[in-house]
Amino acid sequence: MPTLFQSDAGAIYRRLLGYAKPFWPLYSAAIAAMIVYAATDTGFAALMRPLLDGSFIEQNPDTIRIVPVIMVVLFLARGLAGFVSTYCLNYVGRRVIKRLRGEVFEKFLLLPTAIHDQSSTGVMLSKLTYNIEQVAESTTNTITVIIRDTLTILGLVAWMFYLNVELALFIFLVGPLIGWLMRYVSARFRRYSLRIQDSMGDVTRVAEEVLSGHRVIKVFNGEEYELRQFENVNEKNRRLFMRMVAVRAISIPLIQLIAAFGMAGIVFLATQPAMLEKLTVGTFISFFTAMLMLMGPLKRLTNVNANLQRGIAAGKSIFEILDIPNEPAGGTRRLDRARGEISFDDVEFSYDRAKGKVLQEMTFKVAAGQTVAFVGRSGSGKSTLISLLPRFYDVVSGSIRLDGHDVRDYCLPDLRRQIALVSQDVTLFNDTIARNIAYGTMESASPQEIRAVAEAARVLEFSDRLPEGLDTMVGDRGVLLSGGQRQRVAIARALLKNAPVLILDEATSALDSESELHIRHALDALIKDRTTLVIAHRLSTVENADHIIVLDEGRIIETGSHASLIEQGGQYASLYRMQFHEEPVM
Ligand SMILES: Nc1ncnc2c1ncn2[C@@H]1O[C@H](COP(=O)(O)OP(=O)(O)O)[C@@H](O)[C@H]1O
Ligand SMILES: [Mg+2]
Repeated sequence: MPTLFQSDAGAIYRRLLGYAKPFWPLYSAAIAAMIVYAATDTGFAALMRPLLDGSFIEQNPDTIRIVPVIMVVLFLARGLAGFVSTYCLNYVGRRVIKRLRGEVFEKFLLLPTAIHDQSSTGVMLSKLTYNIEQVAESTTNTITVIIRDTLTILGLVAWMFYLNVELALFIFLVGPLIGWLMRYVSARFRRYSLRIQDSMGDVTRVAEEVLSGHRVIKVFNGEEYELRQFENVNEKNRRLFMRMVAVRAISIPLIQLIAAFGMAGIVFLATQPAMLEKLTVGTFISFFTAMLMLMGPLKRLTNVNANLQRGIAAGKSIFEILDIPNEPAGGTRRLDRARGEISFDDVEFSYDRAKGKVLQEMTFKVAAGQTVAFVGRSGSGKSTLISLLPRFYDVVSGSIRLDGHDVRDYCLPDLRRQIALVSQDVTLFNDTIARNIAYGTMESASPQEIRAVAEAARVLEFSDRLPEGLDTMVGDRGVLLSGGQRQRVAIARALLKNAPVLILDEATSALDSESELHIRHALDALIKDRTTLVIAHRLSTVENADHIIVLDEGRIIETGSHASLIEQGGQYASLYRMQFHEEPVM
């Protein structure tokens, strides 16, 4: 199992490095700077010998003069090298982050609808923010530590061997022990950091739900429940973090304790009579300085593994998203403007095969320019049916054709360009009313065009009363507008799109009867000359349709015109009667 994870980790790390590859000149500069930096450390330890032996004991005037100069030069080089390596690595790191963020964001746009349905917004957002930040740490901090500190250690160890082989060899008895401890600790660490990231996602998920659902929470007094839920995830996050902190807090002193044993051993060895003869004060202090200076890099190297693992865990969770296949790109068939002939041929669909069919044996035809209404109880599959046309989901079997060709044959943007959709829950973006109307490909619409459709959809009726008119900001998801106003904006948007196929999914559900009557004309204008699939909660909207299809539990149970269906006296007729209270319900 651990080997499996390791090779996995290796692949992830290589993939992350791939992102840094284009910046190799900067990397090289940083590495060169780190070599200089490591050399200055060794140089400092080495300087101890002439400083003590030359300046203090022999009192050599040349040494006395040159040592302070060297010291300043050493630190000047060290400072410069430190700056260059930090700056270059962070530059690369931030570039990598920016690209990863861009890719994840783009992925959000390309993910199939089904994935969006399943994933929590909070978790997705925390990947975009928190997890990617962790990768930044990994690509900069880790590399600094691995390269610079390893080089420093090499330099210092070499210097120690040069000074005294016996003492240096002794150090190597302690080394493996520290190494073993490092590995043990890092294995524990890796487990926690992954779980902490997951629990961080939980924290944002719960918070996000509260932020977006605050009204529901208030009116149903859900505060307690939400508090409890948040307490759970908050506490879990804390506990996991504390466990990680504990592992870290125990590991560092443990390593240092082992190091202290080593140091005590060195002092003991160095003060043996045979040694004392060979060692000058300067040599011993230089050796000892080098050894002390080893501690920092060693300590960082033990931590670096945890850091690296954290980065890899974060990288893994990001690549998991990036590796989800995009929604199918569609075929190659181009389509400028469809005539608008739609046919469903024995269509079967399920969101999740295990949960059974949502639609089955759907067969019907809509001639170009016709209006077809779908009627049926809530949950009967109306919204699902129309979401198959713009390929939010794909059929499980059977086929849907537009102008005689399977919708899967068209190139996706071309297909979607043919369809305007006004649905029940209108999504507005945090922008002005005008820019919400001219959204997406209609960005280039002129102010006159926008005003014309705003007028037809009765948007002007309320926007003209606002101080900034059509340039009024609608707030986050359009909260500053009422439901009916939002729907009118959505209708204006559909008018502007002027697509050959129009889908109205309870498009007027948020409008009161009077406003609905008012935009009736707008809708009539909208419906005219194009193929329209309409789902309406008010059957009065449906009456004028060329054709009515009644659904129940994912099947077509009745079809026909309003008059013929009333005559049939089936479900449509009873629904119709119920709505107009011609006879008591039940
Ligand atoms: N995104 C989805 N994922 C899984 N199941 C869904 C999804 N949307 C709707 N359903 C299920 O599919 C069935 C049909 O729903 P829907 O098409 O929304 O009905 P209607 O629009 O007629 O009220 C329902 O049982 C509903 O629970
Ligand atoms: Mg619906």
